[in-house]
Amino acid sequence: MTDKTILRALKGETLPVPPIWMMRQAGRYLPEYRATRAQAGDFLSLCYNPELAAEVTLQPIRRYGFDAAILFADILLVPQALGADLWFVTGEGPRLSTVTAQGDFDTLKPASAVHETLAPVYETLRILSRALPAETTLIGFAGAPWTVATYMIAGRGTPDQAPAHALKAENRALFEALLERLTEATIEYLSAQVEAGAECVKLFDSWAGSLNGADFDAYALAPAKRIIAELKARHPGLPVIAFPREAGEKYVGFARATGADCVALDNSVAADWAAQHVQVDGCVQGNLASSHMVTGGQALVDETRAIVEAFRNGPHIFNLGHGITPDADPENVQLMIDTVRAMAPAT
Ligand code: CP3
Repeated sequence: MTDKTILRALKGETLPVPPIWMMRQAGRYLPEYRATRAQAGDFLSLCYNPELAAEVTLQPIRRYGFDAAILFADILLVPQALGADLWFVTGEGPRLSTVTAQGDFDTLKPASAVHETLAPVYETLRILSRALPAETTLIGFAGAPWTVATYMIAGRGTPDQAPAHALKAENRALFEALLERLTEATIEYLSAQVEAGAECVKLFDSWAGSLNGADFDAYALAPAKRIIAELKARHPGLPVIAFPREAGEKYVGFARATGADCVALDNSVAADWAAQHVQVDGCVQGNLASSHMVTGGQALVDETRAIVEAFRNGPHIFNLGHGITPDADPENVQLMIDTVRAMAPAT
């Protein structure tokens, strides 16, 4: 039994008002985040400092009272825990040592070794489980194998994931060995997050949309299915949110095929369409365009209401379609929350 609204929605309950949280809710659009990050030094030092990582996780909960807190960390900590070099270039993004040949792969550690590097993340979760308000759900997360592999193969973020597609074409055995290692590491990592207090986990497959046809099934769907099955075997009843971003029509049936309790929708799919074709399988999360957090105004209010209306007859967690951007106005976040919460039906 739980009173936590996010957990109720994930179990399939239709609530009068959807619970709400926001991807990247702890981030640079908040002055208090920028202050704590300056105190920590760089972004990775913040991720590995349990007290400060817990502090930035709590900041948006204090300011807005979101229904969920998401662990503050990054999907690229897993490659680092496997032995890749990782650093962030200000204004540009992540850089990693690359995996493009068998010799690179051979230097990676086994999946069971990730805990050594990731132990501070588990400590962040333990601090958060004690510090969060009773009604707030604690969400853990990891990147999905394909998305994380795209960064490891290219050594950076890429607009079209071309280096990963090239390795898949040229050396499929190596590509599949890398995905396999990441699948095992993700199971280890998420399972440890649950043991440390995460009540739900989310799998971010940010680049799922660039996998087509059989590749989507083999490299987005199948790893998600395996990760979810193993996590649920180890932690019966654990709710899982899958985010195959920009999957388009492949969102249909994704929850059923992978065993996910909820699929997170990006804002390229229409809410009315998703209510009909995706929400029939259970809870959905999303999907306001994050640009509204920059522009605000009546368009934000109208679009927020339309999304709540579209998903009103089934389980729904309100969220953005992707992470909030650093140029967002914190007042627009409040306007979104007020708009959602004002939509409780009159009784
Ligand atoms: O949602 C949350 O607040 C939880 C924490 C979280 C972060 N990154 C913090 C972060 C989560 C869930 C992520 C996921 C993540 N990280 C993804 C998948 C989701 C997505 O956005 O598509 C990806 C691809 C990454 C990799 C990553 N991390 C990139 C490409 C960047 C640089 C781009 C940028 O925004 O600067 C990051 C950095 C990052 N991760 C920041 C935050 C708050 C900004 C770091 C800073 O303070 O400078």
